[in-house]
Amino acid sequence: MTGAVGGGLRRLGVIGCGLMGAGLAELGARSGFDVVVAVSSDRSLRAGRERVLASLDRSVAKGRIGAEDRDAAVGRLSFTDTLGELADRELIIESVTESHPVKAKVFAALDAVLPKDHDVVLATNTSSLAVAGLAASVRREDLVVGTHFFNPVGTMPLVELISSPRTAPEAAARAERFLAEGLGKRVVHAPDRPGFVVNALLVPFMMSAITMLESGHATAEDIDAGMTQGCGHPMGPLALSDFTGLDTLAAVAQGLFEQSDDARYRPPRLLLDLVTAGHLGRKSGRGFYEYA
Ligand SMILES: NC(=O)c1ccc[n+]([C@@H]2O[C@H](COP(=O)([O-])OP(=O)(O)OC[C@H]3O[C@@H](n4cnc5c(N)ncnc54)[C@H](O)[C@@H]3O)[C@@H](O)[C@H]2O)c1
Repeated sequence: MTGAVGGGLRRLGVIGCGLMGAGLAELGARSGFDVVVAVSSDRSLRAGRERVLASLDRSVAKGRIGAEDRDAAVGRLSFTDTLGELADRELIIESVTESHPVKAKVFAALDAVLPKDHDVVLATNTSSLAVAGLAASVRREDLVVGTHFFNPVGTMPLVELISSPRTAPEAAARAERFLAEGLGKRVVHAPDRPGFVVNALLVPFMMSAITMLESGHATAEDIDAGMTQGCGHPMGPLALSDFTGLDTLAAVAQGLFEQSDDARYRPPRLLLDLVTAGHLGRKSGRGFYEYA
């Protein structure tokens, strides 16, 4: 295989294969990129591969893509538990657990296996952490950008592109070409400030809905119906919380609260208790609602 696919690149790396990493891997492969997905263990490798393949099969079953498109996408995907296999990638998106120490460790380990003279754009899919803070874990801070995708990655058109004060304009421009031309996304430039643009608005709204439920002000069904049937939102805030993953949402809200000292981000006790109980939303079968 030779030649660029879109946005001047062909070789994409993804780190992490949970909800978002799997979506990124699938979208990349469906968009024609050669994708290597790096995970942390053999178990994650099997789970991640199954997640991506099952999603591709669902797309075939729903008639969104043909069986030949799925097979071509599968042929462009490979999975590894060795970060070194990302050494030849042109752009790498980190999408592991929302935690500064976890992400910083991943970036430092990645930095150690990339060639000294590398020119790879390093993107983080963080929802809440400062891009500049994560960039401090690598030698080439100028090559680090934030690319904040939305769930589900394949269908939500928007990506926030975040440059830190150290990001080189050329690296941001390369990332933007990849997002817009390579993946067909609508790119919004967001500042490297807590919540970027979307989560600065959305997370306080979700925390308010959870506080409303916690205080007995209204039921989960009524809160969600209020926003879907009264305000035209496609999903109510509690259903959206379950869809996001309550562990991820709690980590995002806590991180934003700590960075900004703004009480609107503080995760309510009910959210923290659900996470402690292992009720993580759709991905565990139970959150504010129960799922089959
Ligand atoms: N869930 C959402 O709606 C959403 C939306 C936008 C952005 N994000 C961001 O995407 C990132 C991932 O979130 P998610 O929802 O996919 O969470 P998730 O819990 O579904 O997946 C996280 C994955 O990271 C893996 N992981 C942890 N440490 C790792 C390591 N060292 N190397 C490789 N893999 C490792 C875990 O095994 C897990 O599979 C987070 O930064 C989150 O804030 C999430």
